[in-house]
Amino acid sequence: MLAPFEVLFETELPAYQLPEELGRLYGRLGFADRVVYSNFVSSLDGVVALGTSFSAGSVISGKFEGDRFLMALLRACADAVVIGASTMRATPGHLWTPAHVYPDLASSFSALREMLGRAPQPRLVVLTAAGDLDVNHPALQKGATILTTHQGAERMGGRQPATCDVVILGRGKRFKVKRAFDELHERGFQVILTEGGPHLVGQLIAGQVLDEAFLTLSPVVAGRGKARRLGMVEGAELLPLMPVWSRLLSVRRQSDFLFLRYALPAT
Ligand SMILES: NC(=O)c1ccc[n+]([C@@H]2O[C@H](COP(=O)([O-])OP(=O)(O)OC[C@H]3O[C@@H](n4cnc5c(N)ncnc54)[C@H](OP(=O)(O)O)[C@@H]3O)[C@@H](O)[C@H]2O)c1
Repeated sequence: MLAPFEVLFETELPAYQLPEELGRLYGRLGFADRVVYSNFVSSLDGVVALGTSFSAGSVISGKFEGDRFLMALLRACADAVVIGASTMRATPGHLWTPAHVYPDLASSFSALREMLGRAPQPRLVVLTAAGDLDVNHPALQKGATILTTHQGAERMGGRQPATCDVVILGRGKRFKVKRAFDELHERGFQVILTEGGPHLVGQLIAGQVLDEAFLTLSPVVAGRGKARRLGMVEGAELLPLMPVWSRLLSVRRQSDFLFLRYALPAT
């Protein structure tokens, strides 16, 4: 049975009225009315991805129950969960819902969504320039918003399930993530979680779109060999010219895992 998180540090933060069991386990949690936040699990040596065909998060966390719970809780708070197509390609059977990663408390997560006035499930949003998505992926079958380019939409050729809507955001190789997130806000998604990989998050941090980052530090050491293993940010070189100093908001602990929450610099 999951033990309550030990709160080691927490600043003054917004606090939702959480259903009893969620509050008992996690303590206080809440967000600003309009926010973009990310969630990663990292190895002790900074590895978050293990190659294209691995669902790296579960391997790096060892499916640690506290991490699964937090993943579900953060999903339960969100209007939408945004990922890049590589993350979808790396996790063929996944659903980006609270119950999929923590079924035991599915009813508490649903109760939280109802109390917050959210839809029954967060909307999945997938970014793709290439349009190379498996239309039989169960998450697409359940319904998603696909943000893509003209070429991406052409490549998909209308094969996406009827539960999906496709939004074209430009003609080039890819679109600006700021534009994508402005579009999502305009469509009514105000509280947005990104579980996108390092390439998406790199653009969100460089473009000052990301407000907060949740980071689970797993006690495992992943190591690096010849094949490239990604850290939390890829494709954006920040230091030394573009330093991004974040502010620690909270630290929780369960067993040998640390659960960190940071605020990114305001835009
Ligand atoms: N440890 C963790 O917590 C964690 C969390 C998330 C992901 N991961 C791992 O990270 C790996 C994937 O890493 P990643 O960085 O490649 O994933 P990603 O950022 O989620 O996906 C990148 C892809 O998203 C699309 N995309 C991103 N920005 C775009 C833009 N501005 N315009 C149009 N399309 C855009 C492109 O898709 P197209 O190629 O289709 O054009 C791009 O190749 C996986 O192994 C996954 O398991 C780990």
